[in-house]
Amino acid sequence: MDQFIPEPFENIDNHLAVDGFDIVKLSEKEGTPLLVTSGKRIAENYRRIWKAFSSRYEKVEIKYALKANPNPSVVKTLTDLGCGADVSSPFEIMLAEKLSLKPERILYSPNNSSREDLLAGSRKNVTVNFDDLDQMKLIEDELPERISFRINVDIQRGEFPGTTTSGPGAKFGISVESALEGYISARELGVRKFGIHVMTGSNILDPAHFGNVASRILQSAEYISGNSGIAFDFIDIGGGFGVPYRPGESALDVELAAENVAREMKGYVSHGKIGKPSLFLEPGRYLVADSSVMVGKVTGVKKAGKTFVGTDIGMNIFLRPALYGAYHNVIVANDLIRPVSGKKDIVGQICENTDCLARDRTFPYAVPGDTVAVFNSGAYINSMGSMYNGRGRPKEIMVSESGYSITRNRDTFQDFISNYTFE
Ligand SMILES: Cc1ncc(COP(=O)(O)O)c(C=O)c1O
Repeated sequence: MDQFIPEPFENIDNHLAVDGFDIVKLSEKEGTPLLVTSGKRIAENYRRIWKAFSSRYEKVEIKYALKANPNPSVVKTLTDLGCGADVSSPFEIMLAEKLSLKPERILYSPNNSSREDLLAGSRKNVTVNFDDLDQMKLIEDELPERISFRINVDIQRGEFPGTTTSGPGAKFGISVESALEGYISARELGVRKFGIHVMTGSNILDPAHFGNVASRILQSAEYISGNSGIAFDFIDIGGGFGVPYRPGESALDVELAAENVAREMKGYVSHGKIGKPSLFLEPGRYLVADSSVMVGKVTGVKKAGKTFVGTDIGMNIFLRPALYGAYHNVIVANDLIRPVSGKKDIVGQICENTDCLARDRTFPYAVPGDTVAVFNSGAYINSMGSMYNGRGRPKEIMVSESGYSITRNRDTFQDFISNYTFE
């Protein structure tokens, strides 16, 4: 069996490449671990989802969920194309601002926040999406011009329990009845613009799901409008747009997802109760996951019952397999025609037995010095990284038509100790 190379990656002279760049040579020059990102792919992903939705519904705004990958080069690639930002913390607001995003293009959905956290958004007049009535009460004297509530609808659909963000047991959102109370008191407090939000889970490949989510949040909007007379400025269906991680998995049919959502939107708008809201989407993974590979080196191969392929890609820089049991396709990037043969554990350098990129994975023979590449490293990888075990986070580069640029430097010992005091 051959090693699987997903789009947009290619084979150039038996080496993994992207946009004409030989990734093995890049990693020899820049060292490993190295996160290599294609700016072109991010732009393609944005244009694809934008076109699918904006061609079917009049008013669409896409807010990139910065938490997926906050590297400024990534965020800027998207905001230069007209994308806004979905942010979850004061630092993320500050990053969006630093990249020149105006408050009206930012939506702030913090979770279990302090008054200070919430004021970081409202004082800049960023739309705040409240996760609870008490959260709104915390800043009722300083509410922004526009607010929304996150509704917990009874749809439980994420790839893993850890990425399911709605339904019973999820810590997110409130019931539609509580939200109604919240909207009425926000109006009494002077708020005049309202949105409504839902986020059910992550990495969903079924296009029907997005129509279901839209239907449920629109139902909630209609209930609130019917009982309060509030018209909505926006309906936000969150993120969750999936990408294939496993060889052979089909991509999300985003045209069909858009068709399903637009049908629901138009239907509810035509009832005339909820106003003429914009449709907000908050994709993270869909825009950035497949734009990047994490490139590492094989440090050794140990046979101890099982075969362990040791690499410099530890769980501190690649947490998802340990956190959720997530699958990521791994290949030997310096010899793409090397056939896969026999099961191996591909592991990192961290002192945890969960430090395993891939367990019992059918994988080619490997030798120290081989280059390995892990796909779908553009989302929830660098943003979840740490310096656990004193291992620094990787250098990051972005390739483009004009060459490549270093977009994050490798952590140094100074970075490791920077906030400690030594008195
Ligand atoms: C509020 C909110 N919006 C958007 C996203 C992005 O999700 P995804 O990357 O699955 O599109 C998340 C992810 O957790 C989220 O919590």
